[in-house]
Amino acid sequence: MKTQFADFLNGKHVVIVGGGSGMGRATAELATSLGAKVTIASRNADKLNAVADGIELHVSVAAVDTTNEANVKSWAAGLGEVDHLVISASSAAHGAFTDLPTDDLRGMIEAKFIGPYVTAREVLPFLKKGGSVTFFSGVLSRRPSAGATGLAAVNAAVETLAKGLALELAGRVRVNCISPGMVDTEAYAGMPEEARTEMFAQVASGLPVGRVGDAGEIAQAAALAMTNTFMTGSILDVDGGHLVRG
Ligand SMILES: NC(=O)c1ccc[n+]([C@@H]2O[C@H](COP(=O)([O-])OP(=O)(O)OC[C@H]3O[C@@H](n4cnc5c(N)ncnc54)[C@H](OP(=O)(O)O)[C@@H]3O)[C@@H](O)[C@H]2O)c1
Repeated sequence: MKTQFADFLNGKHVVIVGGGSGMGRATAELATSLGAKVTIASRNADKLNAVADGIELHVSVAAVDTTNEANVKSWAAGLGEVDHLVISASSAAHGAFTDLPTDDLRGMIEAKFIGPYVTAREVLPFLKKGGSVTFFSGVLSRRPSAGATGLAAVNAAVETLAKGLALELAGRVRVNCISPGMVDTEAYAGMPEEARTEMFAQVASGLPVGRVGDAGEIAQAAALAMTNTFMTGSILDVDGGHLVRG
């Protein structure tokens, strides 16, 4: 796989928004190892610098908050030419339909849908023809669960955005979306360890692969979305079989 991707990513400028943790960081590590020049971005510059220091080859850092449009515009203008844009940045809000505060719902829509939308739009003028944009949704889009209906709907919106943009930007850049199942990342760092371990075990027991995902496995999908020139408007389900489980 390494040799297959390496030829395509070598020397390319890959910008990863959300590259400071989880799947974004794993994508930064993989792309860097394949010879890409990688820029990682998110809100916290200190966190980004610590991540960049830990990656063997050089990664540059550019802080941005995708929910601040003016910030996104000035950040995008400083990127230079970009080959591939990957947007894994988001935050999620869980809660039953009748309990989830509207402000939490709005915050999630800002972080998970509007932020990535604005980011892709502002980076577009700097994206080279033939490049790509990769969004992130999540398995709930097509397999909702009680207590996460808002998140499921936002995931579905992200997938539709990717498909629509694949048409709208045809001939210019390819646009795809990765839909991960449950993956062990910093997204769950706020949970007590025991509860997190129990949740992972419970989800794992229902999956054909018998475990939750590793961020590196999602990075492989991101590399595929960036490099496969016949792929646009695709949703890549990388979910351990979540969609087909009983
Ligand atoms: N992990 C899972 O089980 C799972 C399952 C299904 C779908 N997904 C989706 O997959 C994607 C990646 O998830 P992950 O687990 O890798 O996430 P993660 O580890 O929580 O990383 C998310 C990153 O986004 C950044 N971020 C959050 N809000 C931002 C904003 N407004 N502007 C800029 N950066 C922002 C965070 O850094 P700062 O705090 O420094 O800004 C962080 O680096 C997300 O879209 C997530 O919803 C995850």
